[in-house]
Amino acid sequence: MKKLIACLFLSLIFGFRISEPVIAQSKTTTSEQSFSTGLQENRWYKNVVIYNLELDTFKDSDGNGIGDFQGLIQQLDYLDVLGVDVIWLAPFQPSPRQDNGYDISDYYGVNPIYGTSGDFSEFMHEAEKRGMRVIMDLVVNHTSDQHPWFQEARQSMNSKYRSWYVWSEERPKDWNKGMVFPGVQQETWTFDKKAGAYYSHRFYRFQPDLNFSNTEVQTEVQKVMGHWLRSGVAGFRLDAVPFIIEDPYSDRENPTHRFQLLKELLRFIGWRKGDAVVLGEANVEPGEEVEYFGKEGNGMSLMFNFYANQHLFYALATGQINEFTNALQATKSIPEASQWANFLRNHDELDLGRLTEEQRDEVYQAFGPKKNMQLYDRGIRRRLAPMLGNRKQLELAYSLLFSLPGTPVIRYGDEIGMGDDLSLKERNAVRTPMQWSNEPNAGFSEASKTDRPVIDEGQYSYHQVNVAAQRRNPNSLLNWTAKMIRLRKECPEVGLGDWTILDLNSPHVLAIKYDWKGSQLVMIHNFSKEPQQVQIKSDVASGKKLVNLIEEKENTVNKEGVYQFNLEEYGYQWYRVGGVMRN
Ligand code: NOJ
Repeated sequence: MKKLIACLFLSLIFGFRISEPVIAQSKTTTSEQSFSTGLQENRWYKNVVIYNLELDTFKDSDGNGIGDFQGLIQQLDYLDVLGVDVIWLAPFQPSPRQDNGYDISDYYGVNPIYGTSGDFSEFMHEAEKRGMRVIMDLVVNHTSDQHPWFQEARQSMNSKYRSWYVWSEERPKDWNKGMVFPGVQQETWTFDKKAGAYYSHRFYRFQPDLNFSNTEVQTEVQKVMGHWLRSGVAGFRLDAVPFIIEDPYSDRENPTHRFQLLKELLRFIGWRKGDAVVLGEANVEPGEEVEYFGKEGNGMSLMFNFYANQHLFYALATGQINEFTNALQATKSIPEASQWANFLRNHDELDLGRLTEEQRDEVYQAFGPKKNMQLYDRGIRRRLAPMLGNRKQLELAYSLLFSLPGTPVIRYGDEIGMGDDLSLKERNAVRTPMQWSNEPNAGFSEASKTDRPVIDEGQYSYHQVNVAAQRRNPNSLLNWTAKMIRLRKECPEVGLGDWTILDLNSPHVLAIKYDWKGSQLVMIHNFSKEPQQVQIKSDVASGKKLVNLIEEKENTVNKEGVYQFNLEEYGYQWYRVGGVMRN
């Protein structure tokens, strides 16, 4: 007890932390409040901009047509100046790359096509020099079927690795249920001749599921995490979380989840690196996130808000905000330490699986009307710019991304409005090389042929859309995005504050108010393609002037005692209450 009091005392004086929570406590009692509020500001993941990229398509330094670590190092200044705080690096370990690297064959290595372990370390060093953190994909639900563990497991029942995977002697009754890639995948249990048994795979057949019931597997995964944390990563984007923790022998379509497994993984990370984050990929219904964030605040720090994302696209498609507002409200109540990660597009299809069929059809109609734009019976395999098709709505979408409650995640290339290549299979449509300039291969590579084809035709070809041209144009999307990122960082209220949706009585205009440490923001977005007028009651902002943070304008209470807002089509306005500076 004495020790504990002494420790508490020292920690208050010198500000060090006693424990090392990945996630600290959830809402606390009044007596704990000030301690908890103090810690909150150290939760770096709440006020950062995350940028997702794949090495393959970012920058090729050695002319073999595939991007690599040295290429990425060359472009770090670009990311730095754009305002990126955190790079989320897609899988870079050795892999047959049948699923964009999400099929790993050695967890501890670096795929030689991207460079050596030395190149990886150089990259980490260069990122750190610029104050950038790196999080990496942790893909442990499954391995590649080429992984030596699986190869050995197949050989015999007595193999040490047999029990590292999930087997069934008989064909399970739901062998063709619960597919993640319907239309492409035929089954979730496949017979392996060598093994003489069926193995489980929620994803493609070349991705056998690891058996998380096996403590040896758990220990090995801890080693993998420990290894990469030692190498300097700031955390992980945890792939396929619900599948990692599901009981593979339970009902495929309504599986049992073992949250204790997740807790153990996170506890380990917390012990190894106190401020490491876990950004979870778990596309769940509202209410289910509680278990993932951890009821006691001891779960994942960040989770993608898939639910809000799908309803946001519904709002963008229809101009109606009602469902989106409901989705925000439905996902509002999360523990204090937790944070949603907001995104527009990612490296997969735009998943619309949580919309009703009618809603999904409306989004298809607006953004992916042709059959070849749709994928897996639930989504759209297109980039943001061609889907929205106009600069005004693109800006609206980005302004929302930066002003919604949570942490924004950007997909490489979206900051310049890159397009897609629908001739490529499945999700590869949105994985084409970064368009750096109008030089051959978009300035991405000096190879005679690149591994992934560059977009060289049409409105979105690299001749039209590239970084070099946009850098020189003050009105480009690139410069606009950089400006908005800067603004977002000057508005910590968004990442850290409490928020309320203001009642405007408009089907098209969304207004969110943030409160943080006596400072307030009001962000207004018009989803309609027509101009809109809305009013906000004066008491919402105590009658103080509202200072527009994007244009040199102010808004004051009118004679009727309300603030009046005129929004152009797809217009967006950010205001700070009382003055331009934060209190
Ligand atoms: C989710 C990833 O986002 C996706 O790209 C991948 O195919 C699956 N997990 C399997 O790892």
